[in-house]
Amino acid sequence: MIRIGVLTVSDRASRGEYPDKGGPAILEFLKDVLTCAWEPHALVIPDEQEHIEATLKAMCDDEGCCFVVTTGGTGPARRDVTPEATEAVCEKMLPGFGELMRAVSLKSVPTAILSRQTAGIRGRSLIVNLPGKPSAIRECLLAVMPAVPYCVDLIG
Ligand code: MTE
Repeated sequence: MIRIGVLTVSDRASRGEYPDKGGPAILEFLKDVLTCAWEPHALVIPDEQEHIEATLKAMCDDEGCCFVVTTGGTGPARRDVTPEATEAVCEKMLPGFGELMRAVSLKSVPTAILSRQTAGIRGRSLIVNLPGKPSAIRECLLAVMPAVPYCVDLIG
């Protein structure tokens, strides 16, 4: 049974000002595409870099998640710090993930250029950032998913 971390980074969703739509969209996508046995470890936290770093570390090191997907906090706004937190906890970056997801998203929205989403490896875990918009989630995950099991296998 593999564990997958799903981390929603949003000030407002974490305060309960609106429902988290990103985390459920990720879970729904994974249910559709994964053929192996897996269980989610899902959390919603505010856009605080230290908090994001601590949660990513806990998901990778303590919860045993071999794949961690984040949603939100990838834009240019002052409080968007998910890519910085990801970079701070990873030993190796995989810039191809962000490049591919931006290229795919740019076909439908010109503002995809604003997303700084990235991916990297911490220990035996692959961390991938997605934008916060639920519509972006399926599009971005569809693009990178073919490389995910291979990558998790290589680092495991
Ligand atoms: N990618 C897709 N596929 N669809 C979108 O609507 N929105 C963009 C970008 N990437 C978007 C997208 C916008 S407007 C921003 S600001 C960034 O993602 C960052 O979003 P985030 O801060 O919610 O992560």
